[in-house]
Amino acid sequence: MKSVFIRKAIRRDIPAISGITLVNEKTMLFRSPAVLRKLLNNYFTAFSETGELIGCCGFKVYSGGDAEIISLAVEKKYRGGGLGGKLIRRTIREARRRKSVKRVMAFANPSAFPLFKKNKFIEAGVQLFHEKILVECRNCPRNKMKNGRYQCNETAMVYVGRKS
Ligand SMILES: CC(C)(COP(=O)(O)OP(=O)(O)OC[C@H]1O[C@@H](n2cnc3c(N)ncnc32)[C@H](O)[C@@H]1OP(=O)(O)O)[C@@H](O)C(=O)NCCC(=O)NCCS
Repeated sequence: MKSVFIRKAIRRDIPAISGITLVNEKTMLFRSPAVLRKLLNNYFTAFSETGELIGCCGFKVYSGGDAEIISLAVEKKYRGGGLGGKLIRRTIREARRRKSVKRVMAFANPSAFPLFKKNKFIEAGVQLFHEKILVECRNCPRNKMKNGRYQCNETAMVYVGRKS
């Protein structure tokens, strides 16, 4: 894991980032190349020593000043070595540099929830993030009932780490 490196995403990373979100579509939102082109400046990518893209993370800023951590994913064989945590921290640092960002938040699925908790996110009521709900949840395939159960299993969380 030592030789893994993380950098800001660039245009040629777009197909691989989109691919990683597609492979993990059951647990995260798919991001198309067109969407990624618009958000590229907010993304980080991680690479193995052979130059393979093995992880990514980005953020999306809503007009009210919330930055949502999005597209957090690590290739299966590289999981459990701390890369997910590194990607989260790098992304938070970048989001907090932006003047427009007032708050950093995430919608964590059950497998990522402990990782966000460890990185200073706490649970928050979804009603705090009405813009996210209006813009994204409205079109999300998991925002529906199936067999009497609500399909979204994400927890709204807010970052309460160090203030700069
Ligand atoms: C969520 C995800 C990005 C975490 O990546 P990661 O590189 O495994 O993250 P880390 O190694 O930093 O942390 C994972 C935690 O699980 C533990 N773990 C142990 N073995 C593991 C394994 N085989 N796989 C995953 N996690 C493992 C790690 O030790 C760590 O806990 P710790 O920090 O208390 O030790 C990754 O599991 C993933 O890509 N999931 C699919 C996409 C997804 O669901 N994204 C989240 C959207 S909200």
